[in-house]
Amino acid sequence: MYNVSIIGLGWVGLAYSAFFTSRKVRVIGVDVDERKIGMLKRGVMPFYEPGISELLRSALRNGLFSPTISYKEAIRLSDILFITVGTPSLADGRIDLKYVSSAVESLGKCLAEVNEYKLIVVKSTVIPGTTLNLVGRILEKTSGKTLGKHFGLCFNPEFLKEGTALRDLEKPDRIVIGAYDKKSGEVLRKFYKEVYGDEIPPVLCTNIVNAELIKYASNAFLAMKISFINTFANLCEKLPGADVNTVAKGIGLDSRINPRFLRAGVGFGGSCFRKDLMAIINLCKDKGVDSSLLESVIKINDLQRRHVIEIIEKEFSNLKNVTVAILGLSFKPNTDDLRDAPSIDIVRGLLDRRAVVKVYDPVAMEKFKKIFGEKVKYCSSMLDCIKGADCAVIVTEWSEFKNLTPDDFLKNMRRPIVVDGRRIYDPELFSKKLKYYGIGWGGSI
Ligand code: UGA
Repeated sequence: MYNVSIIGLGWVGLAYSAFFTSRKVRVIGVDVDERKIGMLKRGVMPFYEPGISELLRSALRNGLFSPTISYKEAIRLSDILFITVGTPSLADGRIDLKYVSSAVESLGKCLAEVNEYKLIVVKSTVIPGTTLNLVGRILEKTSGKTLGKHFGLCFNPEFLKEGTALRDLEKPDRIVIGAYDKKSGEVLRKFYKEVYGDEIPPVLCTNIVNAELIKYASNAFLAMKISFINTFANLCEKLPGADVNTVAKGIGLDSRINPRFLRAGVGFGGSCFRKDLMAIINLCKDKGVDSSLLESVIKINDLQRRHVIEIIEKEFSNLKNVTVAILGLSFKPNTDDLRDAPSIDIVRGLLDRRAVVKVYDPVAMEKFKKIFGEKVKYCSSMLDCIKGADCAVIVTEWSEFKNLTPDDFLKNMRRPIVVDGRRIYDPELFSKKLKYYGIGWGGSI
């Protein structure tokens, strides 16, 4: 049985902890936040992600998951140590490596005290060059040991999506291993072989810098697909009969393009796409490489949030005292994460125009309250939210919203105007009964 450590128990760290323990790997989970460790020991999770709490609680009971603040314990008890601490954005868009540096320093000091070979694996998203030049160097300096001889080093990007983390981990498209040397790569490959058995996905073994680049290029490409389809969505809205969903389907049937990540809407949010794009744009600038393509991806995404407000303004020349119901706050369904959520910019824009804003989300209300306080009205259900509203906007495609019928809007709203920011309703059906705007829908001919 493998013993591994996961250092940094944020969303990624806990998702991996849950998954590894489900495959009978013993996980020592390390975090500097004593309060969080206390909570985890009692089986309380700091966030909502389907399936994770249940798995971690059962792993706590059967001794497969041990949360601790002790790096010493982690290094003594495990063969492989994964670093999953956060790399947030700095004001200029570069990433802040302070959590990586301090975790690696602590690790290096404890590495000095053990004699066996250990493999350190960076999973945190870091700018190309960081794993070798920062992590490798700090480890050698603080441990007094030699990279390649006493310990190994890999960069092993994660490709999980929030809301579907467990499913993504159970059936990943690929595993990318960027290894310092042959031994490091082999140790990690063997571990994954044990974890996945015969169902192991394709494994790409390469050097560290390529693996670091693959992470950024993946996220930049996915974000680009979204901004691409949103550009066509805006064009479709100007052409009666046009529908971006059909356009996306048509281009997606070309296997060179593929249909995924071509859902038009209010744009992307979350903790990764913007942060990673900003970081890689900065690296391009530092290296004298033109980054205009990547800059446009962000610009288009920002405009898409404003576009929602422009649609509402078509109906009301002045939004003062107009009641707008916002359905969905989290940046995507099945999570309570509000980082860079489109809902925040949309609600801010509406409040700036003095609209009255009512909001509802199945899980993200508490977090939203921390940002907006009493400036908006928090509703107990989707029907409560649309009640008496002049306009309803679908910002997150939670599945319960799909059950609302045109009659629900007609009966409950003061003025039944629906802006379908995630295209969850049938435009033909809705537009016959009420005023319906769908992102990327040009209207009936
Ligand atoms: C993203 C990547 O998809 C993961 O592969 C990556 O591991 C992760 O970032 C990360 O770097 O940690 P995540 O941000 O959790 O995952 O969620 P996504 O499903 O990618 O959605 C991001 C945003 O794009 C959401 O706001 C979603 O609504 C939006 N989106 C997604 C669209 O607007 N259209 C689409 O077709 C797909």
